[in-house]
Amino acid sequence: MPRRRRLTSLAVLVPLVPLLAACAKDAPQDTMNPQGPISRSIDHLFTGVFWVAAFVFVVVEFGTLYLVIRFRKRKDDDSDDLPAQTHGNTKLEIAWTIVPAVMLAIVGFFTLTTLFDITKVDHSAMTVQVTGQQWWWEYTYDTNNDGKFDDEDVLTATDLVIPAGQDVNLKIHSNDVIHSFWIPALNGKKDAVPGREHPLRINADEPGTYVGQCTEFCGLSHGYMRQRVIAMTPDDFDAWLANQTKDATKPTDGEAAAGAELFATQCSGCHLARGINDSEFADRGNGTELLVSGNAPDLTHFASRGVFAGGILDLWVDKDGDGIVEADEIGGEFDRGNVEAWLRDPPAEKPMYAPALPDPGGDKIRGMPDLNLTEDQIDQLVDFLETMD
Ligand code: CUA
Repeated sequence: MPRRRRLTSLAVLVPLVPLLAACAKDAPQDTMNPQGPISRSIDHLFTGVFWVAAFVFVVVEFGTLYLVIRFRKRKDDDSDDLPAQTHGNTKLEIAWTIVPAVMLAIVGFFTLTTLFDITKVDHSAMTVQVTGQQWWWEYTYDTNNDGKFDDEDVLTATDLVIPAGQDVNLKIHSNDVIHSFWIPALNGKKDAVPGREHPLRINADEPGTYVGQCTEFCGLSHGYMRQRVIAMTPDDFDAWLANQTKDATKPTDGEAAAGAELFATQCSGCHLARGINDSEFADRGNGTELLVSGNAPDLTHFASRGVFAGGILDLWVDKDGDGIVEADEIGGEFDRGNVEAWLRDPPAEKPMYAPALPDPGGDKIRGMPDLNLTEDQIDQLVDFLETMD
């Protein structure tokens, strides 16, 4: 094959690879597989616009092909004359101005109605505050109903738990840089921007686990910033929320007790575990606040989550092997190895700011540093963390 031809076929074949990869069977982030009414209305709009575009494509491409073939220069035609030259046809010009305008108006109408439909805030529904952090998502449930989302409420991370079949309003913002919240099965993307609050509504038809990832480049571990929505039956959700409002119980003996002590000394500068290290409040001029950073996940109910470290590590063994730790696998077999590996050297699992660079966040630590724990300390901490369900 000549080099030119080889290059041409490469140019045609190479784009096919990602195209074929997009046909993967197990694609939990498939945008064309809506699992709730909001994502379904986006999907309906897409389908409608797709068929309008397909119609235009067929008319234009086949029309062009027909004209090229029908009026080509025939073999036996050796005259050098040009075909009759015409200019201007008022009827045609009016037609091809009006027809596309009408088609765009129809597409625009359905686009706008869908947009209004999916951005509606359901005032009767529960609201959860979603906070983008480098590099994990924090969720705050206003459980004391004071209209504020703060340290007094239930805080959790990575797994956003919601009741299935109900609207849930999200208030999305960021604690540092711009992130983007996206659970493709439930709705489109929404940026998380510091100093702003963006609404997003989600609704899952059925109980299940829906995965997503941060979709705005947000620093070194952007690719390790994932999120999940776990939809439960309303009864299971109520039980889950009631459990989350409880403090952790301090273990009194064994390795776990030693782990709790270690947690209070080693981890409490950043992480909160209510009932373990929440006795230290301080007034920093902004009312009384907990003496924790606010930049690290609340670990009070760490073991009630399916994944940790921004969703990159499983906390429980994925028994059915489908790549997703579902609600019924949480509380099954604890994935001790993952937690140990994480504590042994967190930046190896998920990079924080590269130590060689000047710290771009000033005095803020972003990402979990290596605490140089001994194997005994790691064992104790893991035993303790497993008790926090
Ligand atoms: Cu957060 Cu990308």
